Amino acid sequence: MLQPRATAQCVAVGTFLPERRLTNAELSARVDTSDEWIISRTGIRERRLVEPGTPCSVIAIAAGHDCLRNAGVGAETLDGIIVATITGDQRMPATANVVQHALGATKAWGYDLLNACNGFLAALTTAASMIEAGRAKRILIIGADVMSSIIDHHDRNTCILFGDGAGAVLMEAGPGDAAVGVRGWEMHSDGAGANELIVPCTGSAPALPGQKPVVYQNGRTVFAHAVRRMAEVAEHCLTSQGLAGSDVDLIIPHQANIRIIEATAERLHVPMSQVVVNIDRVGNTTAATLPLALAQAAADGRLVTGTRILLVAFGGGFTWGACYLQWGRSA
Ligand code: ACO
Repeated sequence: MLQPRATAQCVAVGTFLPERRLTNAELSARVDTSDEWIISRTGIRERRLVEPGTPCSVIAIAAGHDCLRNAGVGAETLDGIIVATITGDQRMPATANVVQHALGATKAWGYDLLNACNGFLAALTTAASMIEAGRAKRILIIGADVMSSIIDHHDRNTCILFGDGAGAVLMEAGPGDAAVGVRGWEMHSDGAGANELIVPCTGSAPALPGQKPVVYQNGRTVFAHAVRRMAEVAEHCLTSQGLAGSDVDLIIPHQANIRIIEATAERLHVPMSQVVVNIDRVGNTTAATLPLALAQAAADGRLVTGTRILLVAFGGGFTWGACYLQWGRSA
């Protein structure tokens, strides 16, 4: 295998979660659902919500600050910032520019990356490729979504699933032969599923009569594809590198539904004790699920230098992917 010029290393994580908790009991008072149904079908008990009107940049900046603080690194040393989101502040400018200014990342470029629930993985693999190619030394990747701004709060098919939140990971260049860093990844798309999970009326395509700019989802179809694709890509990402589930310390899956997460773990023969789950407390935060789960692992003392991690995600598009890496900064 060609040795990269540099290794792309994930060296720190930071988060922001709003204070406000929305419980299943509150939702049951608003729409025809129940705590029992939501827990048994999704694994979600509560999610966090920002104050209405809070722009995505606010939570992205907070997560970015937290990450840089945890890394002990100044914003002025960043080469670039990628914000993965489907709920950016505006259509123009990219939210990453707002974040860049607020953080004081004076020499960093910034742009947004839109790939739904697979957005954070897309940001990570993009940043890793730039770092490995020697084009950047330090990139802050942020997954942030204010899902409450694009949810119909009276649609029980969707309002029970999503929450607001943001997470960030600092990526740095290490030596090409370092023992830690991104090892391998793969990404996929199948636009045949484009209408199964969609937020219409937000782009140049004409709206259908009665459509609003909120999440529409064909839950059963999305569920079936998510189960199949996440398990498939997780397994293939490992086997293509001569690895198996037993070579992984932690699986960090996209948090859309506990049943999808369990199916992925089962396919890899990895016990749930090695799978990071926080969907019960934060719901599906779209681009933020992976960094929030990484932060959960850090808080539990399970994320240390050398931890072998498989990240895996699936989202609207359809789009899905996986990445195998060893956490931390080389000595
Ligand atoms: N409360 C009570 N009953 C409900 C609710 C609710 N909130 N929602 C649906 N139901 C009912 C349905 O009407 C249906 O009733 P019927 O049998 O009388 O028709 C019954 O419950 C079963 O509905 P299903 O849609 O089949 O329920 P399912 O078990 O599939 O769960 C869910 C629905 C949770 C949405 C699931 O399909 C799912 O998780 N889908 C995938 C979500 C996902 O992975 N999204 C991808 C990432 S998101 C992104 O990219 C932004």
